[in-house]
Amino acid sequence: MASVRFEAVSKIYGSDSRALSEFSLDVEDGEFVVLVGPSGCGKSTTLRVLAGLEEATSGRVFIHNKDITDETPSKRDIAMVFQNYALYPHMTVFDNMAFSLRMRKLSKEKINSAVTETSDILGISEYLHRKPKELSGGQRQRVALGRAIVRHPKVFLFDEPLSNLDAKLRVQMRNELARLHTQLKATMIYVTHDQAEAMTLGDRIVVLRDGVIQQVAPPLEVYNNPCNKFVAGFIGSPSMNFFKSEVSGHKLMIINGSLDISGVADGRYTAGIRPEDILVTKQGQFTCTVEVVETLGNEKVVLGVTVGGEQITARCRPDIDIHPGGELRFEIDMNRIHLFEVDGIEKKI
Ligand SMILES: Nc1ncnc2c1ncn2[C@@H]1O[C@H](COP(=O)(O)OP(=O)(O)O)[C@@H](O)[C@H]1O
Ligand SMILES: [Mg+2]
Repeated sequence: MASVRFEAVSKIYGSDSRALSEFSLDVEDGEFVVLVGPSGCGKSTTLRVLAGLEEATSGRVFIHNKDITDETPSKRDIAMVFQNYALYPHMTVFDNMAFSLRMRKLSKEKINSAVTETSDILGISEYLHRKPKELSGGQRQRVALGRAIVRHPKVFLFDEPLSNLDAKLRVQMRNELARLHTQLKATMIYVTHDQAEAMTLGDRIVVLRDGVIQQVAPPLEVYNNPCNKFVAGFIGSPSMNFFKSEVSGHKLMIINGSLDISGVADGRYTAGIRPEDILVTKQGQFTCTVEVVETLGNEKVVLGVTVGGEQITARCRPDIDIHPGGELRFEIDMNRIHLFEVDGIEKKI
């Protein structure tokens, strides 16, 4: 196993398509790091540069303190698992898994025991003689995982490996991946745009935007203390609410009310409040008009609009009696408000 280090890696495709800007990151030996961000923000590029499938325009990449920036992909000892499985269709599951070991000229016995052991871990022993087309999507993805695991690579890279699976299977495979990481104690870098995967799998999350790292921290730290408005809005579902607000004296004016505040300079701010921090109560000073009520069984998600025309999403108890067209009254705990600068990069205050 191994640590990974990116040192100021930039990648420019063609003459001016900047996919990655001064990307610097230390991944510890055995750590599970998740890269998240919207489509096109440079997640796959990061993995491809590490795997040697793309050349960095500038910067260096290290595996276990060895500079591998100029090494060929095969010398890097990295296994990559993709969204589309990339299995050989004409080979059986066994042969798919054995392929890289045969290329390395391992003995038949070693190959047999490696494939058997790995297929046991993944619960695919009974399918070893089947071809990929005779397997379900989840089983195919397990084979793709198995093909990576048999090699005992220094580092595992995952590029949205679960996004082709249906919702239920995705959750199941997500749990299996977490278990696998505990079992293998391997260094893993995992790309996803699914924040539930990011929150549950990562020791740390790296949030990327337009090729620039926004924040690197454990999941709960990113959730509770997002460094800027972009991260605040990207992590969390339903997304954080944002309201125009203004501090004057010791008052924060927000929605149709005000809250006591101290230690913040007068001026305009964007206030962020998570949907679960809208505290519905009949005596609440804040109000909105209810537009949509989503009844989810364990909770109701209420979409409303404030007097000022701002959208608001609240997560409420399932037994609350509210209907479209009605009024929702609520309170907000000042301690749960995130304030961001309005201009510039909207840093957290
Ligand atoms: N081979 C390529 N040639 C030119 N531009 C590319 C190439 N691959 C990716 N890009 C561009 O680089 C940016 C980052 O892409 P990518 O790393 O695939 O993002 P993500 O995986 O986060 O969706 C995007 O704007 C994409 O269009
Ligand atoms: Mg991608």
